[in-house]
Amino acid sequence: MKSNHMHLNLFVLNTGHHEASWRHPDTMPEKITDIDYYIQLAQMAESAKLDSLFIADALVLTPAIQYKIGAGLEPLTMLSALAVATERIGLIGTVSTTYSEPYNVARMFASLDFISRGRVGWNSVTSVGDITAVNFGRDQHPEHGDRYARAQEYVQVLKGLWDCWQDDALLYDKQAGIYADYDHKISPLHHQGQYYSVQGPLNIPRSPQGHPVLVQAGSSDAGKELAAETAEVIFTAQNSLASARSFYADVKRRMAKYGRSRDELKILPGFSPIIGATESEAREKEAMLNERITPAFGLIRLSNSLEIDLFQYPLDGPVPLEDLPPVDQVKGQKARFEMLVEMVRNENLTIRQLIVRTASARGHYTIAGTAKQIADVMEEWVLTEAADGFNVMPPYFPGGLEDFVSQVVPELQNRGLFRTEYSGRTLREHLGLKRPSGVLQSV
Ligand SMILES: Cc1cc2nc3c(=O)[nH]c(=O)nc-3n(C[C@H](O)[C@H](O)[C@H](O)COP(=O)(O)O)c2cc1C
Repeated sequence: MKSNHMHLNLFVLNTGHHEASWRHPDTMPEKITDIDYYIQLAQMAESAKLDSLFIADALVLTPAIQYKIGAGLEPLTMLSALAVATERIGLIGTVSTTYSEPYNVARMFASLDFISRGRVGWNSVTSVGDITAVNFGRDQHPEHGDRYARAQEYVQVLKGLWDCWQDDALLYDKQAGIYADYDHKISPLHHQGQYYSVQGPLNIPRSPQGHPVLVQAGSSDAGKELAAETAEVIFTAQNSLASARSFYADVKRRMAKYGRSRDELKILPGFSPIIGATESEAREKEAMLNERITPAFGLIRLSNSLEIDLFQYPLDGPVPLEDLPPVDQVKGQKARFEMLVEMVRNENLTIRQLIVRTASARGHYTIAGTAKQIADVMEEWVLTEAADGFNVMPPYFPGGLEDFVSQVVPELQNRGLFRTEYSGRTLREHLGLKRPSGVLQSV
């Protein structure tokens, strides 16, 4: 039977998910390189018993920084500090499969799994754009299919590296002078693939979770396939109940061919709540953020997503759907591109309206209302198989998170939809995921 308990991840992003959040009177843009700021957010999320928090990453700085906050601490370095300032909450960090080597990454996540005592997850992304490639000695970003083929092999290599050690490989036999059972309990990987050649073994013992939790955030066809095969959590942007349900059904259906059961993957759509004591108070909070939007930034953001220069069109004119590239020629985020096009078609939006419509959380589902109204929507999504939980994206920090933990979480708890205490210690336990036994043990 499907559990009614939902999983909640907090997506931590500098001053918040609304693109004007840094201009909100209560946010602190000057703190985004201050670890105490993140410790405060992490502890607040932990006090509400959230499953995990998540830090995104991009390997590039663009001129858009002129208008919007961006650029900050590197995720894994930040998470290692959060690991020692928290006890139970899961810690998920992004590392790109296109611009990193599996051996380093397997080792960093295994280390972080030890440091956090089994609370870490890896969000694998393939990254976007030639603008990233040029920071890594390449002229061009690999094409979409190639990136995903590489990512698929990359994940296999990481899992293999984490399985090089059995749990009981270390003997510490001081008497006999045998430290580790190298012959029977540690094995090389001998991986020779299309993209990677990795001998192994990994130079760190098997970590508390066996494998850090595998998270995926691509929603294109290739992204869904990779998630169905390998992911244990998927983050996705879905802007309606209907699209979330069809995404959910599609990904869960694909899992069968990889011999996986539906429960082995938790689907967490993005969810950005603007919370007020009354609906009109929530609307005022939303307006306060929307009034601070800088159109120039919105134009840069949408030009990137739609792969067209929107500066050449009138701001109050229609979004030029006829001039957009066909979806099969989209080089960056295909799923995001399709979602925006659908939004424009359904709602007949001007460029300015599309900027405002997507400023709150880049197109993720946004809702302004009371805690009860918000909990109603969350309940409906979870009970109708649109989601296993949510990737919570407060519009501004810390106020938006305070509202969520003090108003929405208790409402969910009262309805029996969310835990009131942690029952486990590791992120796998919070998510109800099995600990992989490891290759050698399963023979
Ligand atoms: C919630 C969420 C978080 C993401 N985090 C990152 C990130 O940290 N770094 C990144 O390069 N891409 C990130 N992405 C983008 C995805 O990895 C992916 O590129 C995007 O969803 C497009 O995938 P697609 O080409 O399969 O549609 C994120 C996407 C979502 C929905």
